[in-house]
Amino acid sequence: MHKVAVLPGDGIGQEIMPEAVKVLDKLGEFSYVYADVGGAAIDKHGKALPEETLKACRQSDAILFGAVGGPKWEKLPPEQQPERAALLPLRKIFDLYANLRPAKIFKPLAGASPLKPEIIGEGIDILIVRELTSDVYFGQPKGIEGTGDNRRGFDMMQYTAREVKRIAKTAFEAALKRNKKVTSIDKANVLHTMVLWRETVAEVAKKYPQVELNNMYVDNASQQLVKWPHQFDVILAGNMFGDILSDEAAIITGSLGMLPSASLNEKNFGLYEPVHGSAPDIAGQKKANPIAQILSAGMMLKYSFGMQKEAQRVEDAVLKTLEDGYRTGDIMTEGCQKVNTQEMGDLIAERI
Ligand code: IPM
Ligand code: MG
Repeated sequence: MHKVAVLPGDGIGQEIMPEAVKVLDKLGEFSYVYADVGGAAIDKHGKALPEETLKACRQSDAILFGAVGGPKWEKLPPEQQPERAALLPLRKIFDLYANLRPAKIFKPLAGASPLKPEIIGEGIDILIVRELTSDVYFGQPKGIEGTGDNRRGFDMMQYTAREVKRIAKTAFEAALKRNKKVTSIDKANVLHTMVLWRETVAEVAKKYPQVELNNMYVDNASQQLVKWPHQFDVILAGNMFGDILSDEAAIITGSLGMLPSASLNEKNFGLYEPVHGSAPDIAGQKKANPIAQILSAGMMLKYSFGMQKEAQRVEDAVLKTLEDGYRTGDIMTEGCQKVNTQEMGDLIAERI
């Protein structure tokens, strides 16, 4: 039986996680180990990533993660805050370097996209492959030093060839199963790190002659995404640029509440989480859209448990629910029926 560490975390994480578990229970028997993470863990255990939580993750086959953070913990010293003290260490400890963020429009939601219908066309289907354990997020040194006007904040952008090679390989392998096109994002006109990035990606590309490689500066990529998103198949990016572009790609699909993600290591152990955050402004109001969390559970079935068919059933059930006209507030349009978090979970589970 597959063992899942379930870490709901904070804010809407607590509300959307039960809906994902509800859907999983329709598809098989899993054993769940619940553990606290983020602000919830700070309140209960004094730290965002308690030893027991790490242990639960280590003893499981995959981690299903909700979201962390919120105004309650924003005044803590930066290194104790939920994002920095829980999510980033989890990614690093398990070496979850390969972050897959599919940005796909479900047809019934085409109208929710901020882009014009003539740009959306038949829909958008992009896979963002973001490196997740290096770059300016983790490079040393980093800190704040000095006093007065000389006070200085600094973070080190860096990539090793090994780090670029392995994430580039992930992107090319993914492209082989899709439309065979990789757009690699960099800023090689300014940053040395990105010169190395571009050279290394080109080297890896030689092993994939069937895949077309394009290089694009990140500033240009941010406008191309809204101007003509269909030019993209797989977007390969470092940690920082991937963070920014994945939010942009997410919103052009209609709502941040729809996008799942997988973060994998070399052994395909993974953490699965929605791309959105803990949304403290709507937490506790039963308004949150559980679909990103549910689709994340679907990605877990596919990538960690090899349950391709069941993963497809999750996507199909989500699509059917949307086709049947049910919407949470974030994706609501005229003529549809508005439902709350739990109702959306029920409707999807019924359609499995
Ligand atoms: C994401 C988030 C995180 C990141 C934050 C919460 C640390 O924005 O997963 O995209 O920057 O990676
Ligand atoms: Mg982000």
